Amino acid sequence: MKLIIKNDYEEMSEWAANHIAEAINNHKEDRPFVLGLPTGSSPLGVYKRLIEMNKAGKISFKNVITFNMDEYVGLPKEHDQSYWYFMHDNFFDHIDIPKENINILNGLAEDPEEECRKYEEKIAACGGIDLFMGGCGVDGHIAFNEPYTSLTSRTGVRVLTEDTRIVNSRFFGNDPENVPKTALSVGVGTVCDAKQVLVLISGHNKARALRHCVECGVDHAWTISALQLHKDGIIACDEAACGELKVDTYKYFKEVCKDEK
Ligand code: GLP
Repeated sequence: MKLIIKNDYEEMSEWAANHIAEAINNHKEDRPFVLGLPTGSSPLGVYKRLIEMNKAGKISFKNVITFNMDEYVGLPKEHDQSYWYFMHDNFFDHIDIPKENINILNGLAEDPEEECRKYEEKIAACGGIDLFMGGCGVDGHIAFNEPYTSLTSRTGVRVLTEDTRIVNSRFFGNDPENVPKTALSVGVGTVCDAKQVLVLISGHNKARALRHCVECGVDHAWTISALQLHKDGIIACDEAACGELKVDTYKYFKEVCKDEK
Protein backbone atom coordinates (compact mmCIF):
# COMPACT_ATOMS: atom_id res chain seq x y z
CA MET A 1 0.00 0.00 0.00
CA LYS A 2 1.14 3.54 -0.70
CA LEU A 3 0.27 6.42 1.60
CA ILE A 4 0.69 9.82 -0.03
CA ILE A 5 0.70 12.49 2.67
CA LYS A 6 0.04 16.03 1.49
CA ASN A 7 -0.06 19.22 3.54
CA ASP A 8 -3.78 19.92 3.22
CA TYR A 9 -6.99 19.07 1.39
CA GLU A 10 -6.10 21.23 -1.63
CA GLU A 11 -2.72 19.56 -2.16
CA MET A 12 -4.21 16.12 -1.65
CA SER A 13 -6.87 16.91 -4.27
CA GLU A 14 -4.31 18.22 -6.70
CA TRP A 15 -2.15 15.13 -6.37
CA ALA A 16 -5.14 12.80 -6.87
CA ALA A 17 -6.48 14.74 -9.86
CA ASN A 18 -3.07 14.67 -11.55
CA HIS A 19 -2.76 10.97 -10.84
CA ILE A 20 -6.15 10.23 -12.42
CA ALA A 21 -5.47 12.47 -15.42
CA GLU A 22 -2.17 10.71 -16.01
CA ALA A 23 -3.80 7.28 -15.77
CA ILE A 24 -6.42 8.26 -18.34
CA ASN A 25 -3.90 9.91 -20.66
CA ASN A 26 -1.56 6.92 -20.48
CA HIS A 27 -4.31 4.39 -21.19
CA LYS A 28 -3.28 2.55 -24.34
CA GLU A 29 -5.71 -0.37 -24.44
CA ASP A 30 -8.17 -0.75 -27.27
CA ARG A 31 -11.17 -0.11 -25.00
CA PRO A 32 -12.33 2.84 -22.90
CA PHE A 33 -10.72 3.64 -19.55
CA VAL A 34 -13.06 2.50 -16.76
CA LEU A 35 -13.17 4.80 -13.74
CA GLY A 36 -14.97 4.12 -10.44
CA LEU A 37 -16.14 7.23 -8.60
CA PRO A 38 -17.40 8.27 -5.16
CA THR A 39 -19.59 11.07 -3.85
CA GLY A 40 -19.04 13.04 -0.64
CA SER A 41 -17.00 16.09 0.25
CA SER A 42 -13.66 14.24 -0.07
CA PRO A 43 -13.62 14.06 -3.91
CA LEU A 44 -15.00 17.57 -4.56
CA GLY A 45 -11.53 19.12 -4.90
CA VAL A 46 -10.53 16.36 -7.34
CA TYR A 47 -13.65 16.90 -9.45
CA LYS A 48 -13.02 20.65 -9.54
CA ARG A 49 -9.48 20.14 -10.82
CA LEU A 50 -10.47 17.46 -13.37
CA ILE A 51 -13.10 19.86 -14.73
CA GLU A 52 -10.45 22.57 -15.05
CA MET A 53 -8.07 20.19 -16.83
CA ASN A 54 -10.87 19.10 -19.16
CA LYS A 55 -11.73 22.70 -20.04
CA ALA A 56 -8.03 23.46 -20.59
CA GLY A 57 -7.79 20.53 -23.03
CA LYS A 58 -5.33 18.60 -20.85
CA ILE A 59 -7.63 15.62 -20.46
CA SER A 60 -10.71 14.24 -22.17
CA PHE A 61 -13.41 11.92 -20.84
CA LYS A 62 -14.73 10.96 -24.30
CA ASN A 63 -13.11 7.54 -23.98
CA VAL A 64 -13.91 7.04 -20.27
CA ILE A 65 -16.70 4.92 -18.77
CA THR A 66 -17.64 5.63 -15.15
CA PHE A 67 -19.28 3.53 -12.45
CA ASN A 68 -20.38 5.25 -9.28
CA MET A 69 -20.02 3.56 -5.94
CA ASP A 70 -23.45 3.92 -4.45
CA GLU A 71 -26.90 5.49 -4.35
CA TYR A 72 -29.56 5.98 -1.71
CA VAL A 73 -32.64 3.79 -2.03
CA GLY A 74 -35.83 5.75 -2.55
CA LEU A 75 -34.50 9.08 -3.80
CA PRO A 76 -35.41 10.09 -7.36
CA LYS A 77 -32.58 11.37 -9.59
CA GLU A 78 -33.88 14.93 -9.30
CA HIS A 79 -33.63 14.91 -5.48
CA ASP A 80 -30.80 17.28 -4.61
CA GLN A 81 -29.32 14.69 -2.22
CA SER A 82 -29.38 11.78 -4.64
CA TYR A 83 -25.92 10.73 -5.71
CA TRP A 84 -27.09 10.95 -9.33
CA TYR A 85 -27.80 14.66 -8.78
CA PHE A 86 -24.54 15.17 -6.87
CA MET A 87 -22.43 13.62 -9.63
CA HIS A 88 -24.07 15.58 -12.43
CA ASP A 89 -24.04 18.84 -10.50
CA ASN A 90 -20.42 18.53 -9.37
CA PHE A 91 -18.81 16.71 -12.27
CA PHE A 92 -20.57 15.14 -15.23
CA ASP A 93 -22.40 18.27 -16.41
CA HIS A 94 -19.07 20.09 -16.72
CA ILE A 95 -16.95 17.58 -18.65
CA ASP A 96 -17.02 16.03 -22.13
CA ILE A 97 -18.10 12.52 -21.05
CA PRO A 98 -20.77 10.94 -23.29
CA LYS A 99 -23.91 10.54 -21.15
CA GLU A 100 -24.20 6.87 -22.15
CA ASN A 101 -20.81 6.21 -20.52
CA ILE A 102 -22.11 7.18 -17.05
CA ASN A 103 -23.30 4.37 -14.78
CA ILE A 104 -25.02 5.02 -11.46
CA LEU A 105 -27.07 2.50 -9.50
CA ASN A 106 -30.79 3.23 -9.67
CA GLY A 107 -32.10 3.68 -6.14
CA LEU A 108 -35.67 3.44 -7.42
CA ALA A 109 -35.21 0.10 -9.21
CA GLU A 110 -38.23 -2.17 -8.80
CA ASP A 111 -35.95 -5.12 -8.22
CA PRO A 112 -32.89 -3.77 -6.35
CA GLU A 113 -31.09 -7.13 -6.27
CA GLU A 114 -31.45 -7.47 -10.03
CA GLU A 115 -30.22 -3.88 -10.47
CA CYS A 116 -27.09 -4.75 -8.46
CA ARG A 117 -26.51 -8.01 -10.32
CA LYS A 118 -26.71 -6.20 -13.67
CA TYR A 119 -24.30 -3.53 -12.42
CA GLU A 120 -21.67 -6.17 -11.69
CA GLU A 121 -22.28 -7.72 -15.11
CA LYS A 122 -21.85 -4.37 -16.82
CA ILE A 123 -18.59 -3.67 -14.99
CA ALA A 124 -17.30 -7.06 -16.14
CA ALA A 125 -18.52 -6.47 -19.71
CA CYS A 126 -16.53 -3.21 -19.79
CA GLY A 127 -13.38 -5.14 -18.90
CA GLY A 128 -13.34 -4.33 -15.17
CA ILE A 129 -12.51 -1.09 -13.42
CA ASP A 130 -9.08 0.37 -14.15
CA LEU A 131 -9.03 2.85 -11.28
CA PHE A 132 -11.55 3.07 -8.45
CA MET A 133 -11.40 6.32 -6.51
CA GLY A 134 -13.09 6.20 -3.11
CA GLY A 135 -13.67 8.15 0.04
CA CYS A 136 -14.01 6.83 3.56
CA GLY A 137 -16.54 7.27 6.34
CA VAL A 138 -15.45 8.27 9.86
CA ASP A 139 -16.08 4.64 10.84
CA GLY A 140 -13.81 3.44 8.04
CA HIS A 141 -16.51 2.38 5.61
CA ILE A 142 -15.90 2.43 1.87
CA ALA A 143 -18.85 3.15 -0.45
CA PHE A 144 -21.76 2.11 1.82
CA ASN A 145 -20.00 -0.98 3.15
CA GLU A 146 -20.65 -0.35 6.81
CA PRO A 147 -18.71 -2.06 9.62
CA TYR A 148 -18.99 -5.86 9.45
CA THR A 149 -19.87 -5.97 5.76
CA SER A 150 -18.05 -8.92 4.22
CA LEU A 151 -14.73 -7.94 2.76
CA THR A 152 -15.58 -10.08 -0.28
CA SER A 153 -19.03 -8.48 -0.73
CA ARG A 154 -20.39 -7.64 -4.17
CA THR A 155 -22.82 -4.92 -5.27
CA GLY A 156 -26.01 -5.13 -3.24
CA VAL A 157 -28.48 -3.52 -0.86
CA ARG A 158 -26.95 -2.10 2.34
CA VAL A 159 -28.56 -1.02 5.60
CA LEU A 160 -26.97 2.22 6.83
CA THR A 161 -25.79 2.43 10.43
CA GLU A 162 -27.17 5.05 12.75
CA ASP A 163 -23.68 6.60 12.87
CA THR A 164 -23.64 7.10 9.11
CA ARG A 165 -27.17 8.49 9.11
CA ILE A 166 -26.19 10.96 11.83
CA VAL A 167 -23.06 12.03 9.90
CA ASN A 168 -25.00 12.36 6.62
CA SER A 169 -27.93 14.18 8.27
CA ARG A 170 -26.04 17.43 7.65
CA PHE A 171 -27.41 17.20 4.10
CA PHE A 172 -30.94 16.29 5.24
CA GLY A 173 -31.96 19.19 7.49
CA ASN A 174 -29.81 17.84 10.36
CA ASP A 175 -32.38 15.16 11.08
CA PRO A 176 -31.06 11.56 10.82
CA GLU A 177 -34.66 10.41 10.35
CA ASN A 178 -34.66 12.14 6.96
CA VAL A 179 -31.64 10.13 5.75
CA PRO A 180 -32.63 7.04 3.76
CA LYS A 181 -32.18 3.84 5.75
CA THR A 182 -30.84 1.77 2.88
CA ALA A 183 -28.64 2.22 -0.16
CA LEU A 184 -27.35 0.28 -3.13
CA SER A 185 -23.60 -0.03 -3.05
CA VAL A 186 -20.74 -1.74 -4.78
CA GLY A 187 -19.15 -4.31 -2.48
CA VAL A 188 -15.73 -4.25 -0.88
CA GLY A 189 -14.87 -7.08 -3.27
CA THR A 190 -16.11 -5.02 -6.23
CA VAL A 191 -13.83 -2.14 -5.24
CA CYS A 192 -10.87 -4.41 -4.61
CA ASP A 193 -11.27 -6.06 -8.03
CA ALA A 194 -10.27 -2.76 -9.64
CA LYS A 195 -6.76 -2.74 -11.05
CA GLN A 196 -5.94 0.23 -8.85
CA VAL A 197 -7.79 1.70 -5.85
CA LEU A 198 -7.20 5.29 -4.73
CA VAL A 199 -8.82 6.36 -1.45
CA LEU A 200 -8.97 10.00 -0.29
CA ILE A 201 -8.82 10.51 3.46
CA SER A 202 -8.85 14.08 4.74
CA GLY A 203 -9.37 15.84 8.06
CA HIS A 204 -9.08 15.16 11.79
CA ASN A 205 -12.37 13.29 11.91
CA LYS A 206 -10.91 10.58 9.64
CA ALA A 207 -7.71 10.07 11.68
CA ARG A 208 -8.99 6.92 13.42
CA ALA A 209 -10.10 5.43 10.11
CA LEU A 210 -6.69 6.11 8.56
CA ARG A 211 -4.93 4.49 11.51
CA HIS A 212 -7.11 1.39 11.25
CA CYS A 213 -6.56 1.20 7.52
CA VAL A 214 -2.78 1.55 7.69
CA GLU A 215 -1.57 0.29 11.07
CA CYS A 216 -4.13 -2.23 12.27
CA GLY A 217 -4.96 -5.59 10.71
CA VAL A 218 -7.46 -6.37 8.00
CA ASP A 219 -10.74 -6.11 9.89
CA HIS A 220 -14.33 -6.18 8.68
CA ALA A 221 -15.14 -3.62 11.40
CA TRP A 222 -13.17 -1.11 9.27
CA THR A 223 -14.00 -2.15 5.74
CA ILE A 224 -11.46 0.29 4.28
CA SER A 225 -8.73 -1.95 5.75
CA ALA A 226 -9.38 -4.43 2.91
CA LEU A 227 -7.10 -2.15 0.92
CA GLN A 228 -4.18 -3.86 2.66
CA LEU A 229 -4.85 -6.93 0.52
CA HIS A 230 -4.94 -5.01 -2.75
CA LYS A 231 -1.89 -5.27 -4.98
CA ASP A 232 -2.11 -1.61 -6.00
CA GLY A 233 -3.84 0.31 -3.21
CA ILE A 234 -3.11 4.01 -2.70
CA ILE A 235 -4.32 6.35 0.02
CA ALA A 236 -3.95 10.08 -0.57
CA CYS A 237 -4.40 11.96 2.68
CA ASP A 238 -3.64 15.26 4.38
CA GLU A 239 -1.65 16.04 7.52
CA ALA A 240 -4.81 16.41 9.59
CA ALA A 241 -5.83 12.81 8.89
CA CYS A 242 -2.42 11.56 10.10
CA GLY A 243 -3.05 12.66 13.69
CA GLU A 244 -3.37 9.12 15.04
CA LEU A 245 -0.52 7.48 13.11
CA LYS A 246 2.65 6.51 14.93
CA VAL A 247 5.54 8.90 14.27
CA ASP A 248 7.48 6.03 12.69
CA THR A 249 4.65 5.14 10.33
CA TYR A 250 4.25 8.77 9.33
CA LYS A 251 7.98 9.23 8.70
CA TYR A 252 8.24 5.98 6.74
CA PHE A 253 5.51 6.89 4.26
CA LYS A 254 6.68 10.50 3.98
CA GLU A 255 10.04 9.12 2.87
CA VAL A 256 9.08 6.22 0.60
CA CYS A 257 6.21 7.98 -1.17
CA LYS A 258 7.74 11.42 -1.55
CA ASP A 259 8.23 11.13 -5.32
CA GLU A 260 5.02 9.25 -6.16
CA LYS A 261 3.12 10.64 -9.13
C1 GLP B 1 -20.88 8.37 2.38
C2 GLP B 1 -20.55 7.70 1.05
C3 GLP B 1 -19.11 7.28 0.99
C4 GLP B 1 -18.21 8.43 1.36
C5 GLP B 1 -18.53 8.84 2.78
C6 GLP B 1 -17.64 9.95 3.30
O1 GLP B 1 -21.12 7.44 3.37
N1 GLP B 1 -21.37 6.56 0.82
O2 GLP B 1 -18.81 6.83 -0.33
O3 GLP B 1 -16.87 8.05 1.24
O4 GLP B 1 -19.87 9.28 2.82
O5 GLP B 1 -18.06 11.19 2.82
P1 GLP B 1 -17.23 12.50 2.95
O6 GLP B 1 -16.21 12.47 1.88
O7 GLP B 1 -18.23 13.61 2.75
O8 GLP B 1 -16.63 12.53 4.30
